[in-house]
Amino acid sequence: MFPKDAWYVCAMSHEIAAGQVMSRTICNFPMAIYRAADGTASALLDRCPHRLYPLSAGTVEGDRLRCSYHGLSFAANGKCQEIPSQTEISATACVRSFPVREAHGLIWVWPGDVTRAEGTVLPGFETGEGYLSGLDFSCLDPSDRWGVAGPHVIHLNANYMLAVDNLLDLTHTAFVHATTFDNAGVLDSERTVKAVGDYQLIDFFAFKNTMSRPLRDGYILDEDVKLFDNFLETYWQAPSVMILVHGAVPEGGNREDDACATVLNTNILTPATDTTSHYFWAQSVYRNRGDGKVRDMWDMMTRAAFGEDEDVLERQQANLGRFGSTSLEDDVSVVLKADKGIVLARRIVSSMVKREGGNA
Ligand code: FES
Ligand SMILES: [Fe+2]
Repeated sequence: MFPKDAWYVCAMSHEIAAGQVMSRTICNFPMAIYRAADGTASALLDRCPHRLYPLSAGTVEGDRLRCSYHGLSFAANGKCQEIPSQTEISATACVRSFPVREAHGLIWVWPGDVTRAEGTVLPGFETGEGYLSGLDFSCLDPSDRWGVAGPHVIHLNANYMLAVDNLLDLTHTAFVHATTFDNAGVLDSERTVKAVGDYQLIDFFAFKNTMSRPLRDGYILDEDVKLFDNFLETYWQAPSVMILVHGAVPEGGNREDDACATVLNTNILTPATDTTSHYFWAQSVYRNRGDGKVRDMWDMMTRAAFGEDEDVLERQQANLGRFGSTSLEDDVSVVLKADKGIVLARRIVSSMVKREGGNA
């Protein structure tokens, strides 16, 4: 199940240079994603309407994509502009095109109803006042404010909502990441999960702890401080866009103080097929703490941790297949208090799918 009327990241900007084309499947649509000579990114269905050859095997010429079989050339709107073997171009000589936007190093595509993309904005979060005010993916632009590692992509052999579940229940970190983060404090944490408007949730953990060795090293915390306020705050926008704000401040301290470490972990899941997804992720370190050292440490630690998550999610997807479960929700028999965010998120995503006339 995935809503199609939504913006999904299909690629990172650096993956496609001007004049290049790549193939990627988004929401079960194989797409040819290309960048024109002027830098504009576009996405067409990866199937030439002539003999169904993959357009991603073609060549970019100016702002057009030419099929490399018999040479039909298509504009970004999908209309055929040239047929080398004849002068007439029929109205059926067109290929589906998808709305595309690009910002902050990410290329977003809208796989659904084109008319419903108009007037929409790319995901961003309601954070209220303070240092996170206006939180969006501008945190992926390296600046005085943010030290950035990534974005990266993992091509995951698991449904995208399994990864959303994973990120909306960070109690798994005590087990899956027992050595990478060693952060069992999350199990006894105060937890706030609530909806923000119709399409967003927050899922916040707050707890005091002495901070494990990996976390002390990762955040570069003052060794003389014994107790810290630890925070893990996920902002989620339906269906699968998240920023996890995490860090630690000496007990009772202020997040704007130099003693506080704050890291933003971007997590964006894009459905590829029903059982595979593209997982885009990055780290943004507030004020580039440690002159890049915190950024590099968290890039390395998160890479290791996401390898652990990847293993879990792929085993979980394989087990769904082994038991013939098409929908996890039909077959689960235990729902925990910790699942509140997951339940709310899945309810919102299901309602989006149903509104589009699909089966949630
Ligand atoms: S298949 Fe593309 S031009 Fe013939
Ligand atoms: Fe994890």
